[in-house]
Amino acid sequence: MTERLGDSFFQDPQGLFARLRSSAPVTPVVTPEGLRVWLVTRYEDVRAALADPRLAKDWVAHMTPEDFDITMDPVQAFLDQHMLNLDPPDHTRLRRLVVKAFTPRRVAALEPRIRDVTGALLDAMADGPEETELIGAFAFPLTVTVICELIGIPADDRESFRAWSETLLSSRGTRVESRAAATAMHAYFTRLVAERRQTPADDLLSALIAARDSGDSLSEHELLSMMFLLLVAGHETMVNLIAGGVLALLTHPAELARLRADPALLPSAVEELLRYANPLNHATERFTLEPVTIGGTPVPAKEWVMLATSSANRDPERFPGADRLDVGRDTAGHVGFGHGIHYCLGAPLARLEGGIAFGMLLERFPALATAVPGTELRWRPSSLIHGLEALPVRLR
Ligand code: HEM
Repeated sequence: MTERLGDSFFQDPQGLFARLRSSAPVTPVVTPEGLRVWLVTRYEDVRAALADPRLAKDWVAHMTPEDFDITMDPVQAFLDQHMLNLDPPDHTRLRRLVVKAFTPRRVAALEPRIRDVTGALLDAMADGPEETELIGAFAFPLTVTVICELIGIPADDRESFRAWSETLLSSRGTRVESRAAATAMHAYFTRLVAERRQTPADDLLSALIAARDSGDSLSEHELLSMMFLLLVAGHETMVNLIAGGVLALLTHPAELARLRADPALLPSAVEELLRYANPLNHATERFTLEPVTIGGTPVPAKEWVMLATSSANRDPERFPGADRLDVGRDTAGHVGFGHGIHYCLGAPLARLEGGIAFGMLLERFPALATAVPGTELRWRPSSLIHGLEALPVRLR
């Protein structure tokens, strides 16, 4: 019988992933939205499929509306036409232009600001009550500020920006609210692009406007959808890496103590948290341009395929003792940032920001603990993001 994903999946995706890896590693499932998709769960299959050009992204170019019963909001559809939803040669061209702007130097230059923002949030927490909710007090404001700093969203506009992103990304908003937020963000970005064209600043948006490759540059539509992509791909992922990562550490006291005793383990701990507590469910979707055999299972043309990177990262065939958190583990080859041409563009920033967030939080609060041990935590019902509804913690 075809598995239907529901609340039990959201609360414990790894339970289903483990079962499917051993019994039906490439299998149709029905998503909570009612879409029939193929779910791929083994490491070898996921990694190979991520690099397989027959598994495409740009479904709009290859499908007729009759193929899928999806009605997209026009503003949302406009913003969604970004490089993560495109295939070569369009993807190649956009990625080349963005790489010229999103440079290692630009990421490194953010470090002092990330430390300042993190420090200010930790100060505010230290001055507040003994118990706090870590996503609202720390993970969300930190990550939204960093993405705003990167793109160049002025400080005064961040509150509106934060409200729109929350509606658009948290899957808590209604359709009408999401539409209003997408329209407002579109109008805002249009204005901001016009301003930066007039007066460039030292930010990613100005660098994107200036980026040139053999005389080519980003069009207005490409600039707007690129900023939307940076927000979508770079924000909720970070929020939930921080929240899920802190939970993983607090629930593995021996590993936490090991990390506290040897801060040099921080980079490998971040990498292990990207493997073990990855914030994506099965967000890395593709569709088949032609019939494809994945892991021995034939998948017909024009089907959606979900490459479950979070399952691949817990495949014991690839990572011995995969369900064990080990902050010193050799995680080489994990697919937490994807693999192939769409490999996460923000990986260096995510590593930098994650290292600062985990490192400074643990240092500041040596007795950090989950608020009420044994309280059941709830995970959000999102197919894309494996994220906690809330993470109450005790700081002292
Ligand atoms: C792509 C994960 C943070 C920007 C991806 C993909 C994954 C991923 C798995 C590939 C998706 C696919 O193949 O379908 C993550 C995780 C993050 C993170 C786990 C943090 C914990 C960021 C940040 C940014 C960012 C901070 C930017 C500021 C992007 C972009 C792409 C991407 C632009 C599309 C690349 C392309 O299509 O060529 N990310 N990401 N990500 N990510 Fe990230």
